[in-house]
Amino acid sequence: MRDLSGLVVAVTGATSGIGRETARALVESGAKVGLGARRAERLAALEEELGDAVVGVPMDVRVPDDSKRLIETTVERFGPLGAVVPNAGIGAYGGIMDLTDDQLTEMMDTNFAGTVWPIRAAVPHLRAGGGGDIVIVASVAGLRGNGDEAVYAGSKFAQVGLAGGLDRELHGEGIRTTVIAPGGVSTEFAMGHGRTPDMPGLADMLDPADVAAAIIFALGQPSHMRSLVWSMRHMREAD
Ligand SMILES: NC(=O)c1ccc[n+]([C@@H]2O[C@H](COP(=O)([O-])OP(=O)(O)OC[C@H]3O[C@@H](n4cnc5c(N)ncnc54)[C@H](OP(=O)(O)O)[C@@H]3O)[C@@H](O)[C@H]2O)c1
Repeated sequence: MRDLSGLVVAVTGATSGIGRETARALVESGAKVGLGARRAERLAALEEELGDAVVGVPMDVRVPDDSKRLIETTVERFGPLGAVVPNAGIGAYGGIMDLTDDQLTEMMDTNFAGTVWPIRAAVPHLRAGGGGDIVIVASVAGLRGNGDEAVYAGSKFAQVGLAGGLDRELHGEGIRTTVIAPGGVSTEFAMGHGRTPDMPGLADMLDPADVAAAIIFALGQPSHMRSLVWSMRHMREAD
């Protein structure tokens, strides 16, 4: 495993679930982390918890300039960027006609455009440093589709397509792109719009710390090796 101490990383969606556990795991590994999300009070709580190794940047991934601010603040505070983890995402469950126009627009903008903007903000910095990592948090839904979340699945397929293109475009410059594609993960997201706690299968989910550990593992691989998609699910998750 590559030593992650001193690695400078920007993570979106850092105030909850997978992003928050990833921030904690990165700091435990000795990395320095820029934390992006909208809820400023939660970012402040994480700064309190994790100390000088993190900087919180209130931002919305749907806004290109906010992503630039996240990356620039991270670099100003900690030095050259080593990795970006576009993780922020939202879900809404229901058939194609069950969700509102606004719900679908927000989901597409957050999950896909909200992945593109932090990457565009990060790539010039990764190039300047001679390489680095892009680790995109997608989903099993982005590999096979799910019936009660077609547009969500589409937004996740879009992330996987983006990653394939970026891999081809950037690997020659030492910039490695990895997709982390989990099945169900027990986070606030899992109880998103349209789900109730009594629905079957909700107990058989990964812990967000499991996915954070996968992200740490991906970042820790030797820099000459790339593996585009890594998918993981709970042993009891139904097909
Ligand atoms: N949970 C699952 O079952 C599961 C499975 C597979 C993949 N995933 C993926 O994992 C990723 C993280 O989800 P999670 O399960 O950890 O969910 P979560 O606990 O709800 O966390 C989502 C994070 O995204 C942030 N976020 C949402 N909209 C944002 C915006 N417009 N701008 C900036 N930040 C925004 C939220 O922060 P603020 O509200 O503070 O902005 C929060 O920190 C998502 O991409 C999701 O699609 C989740």
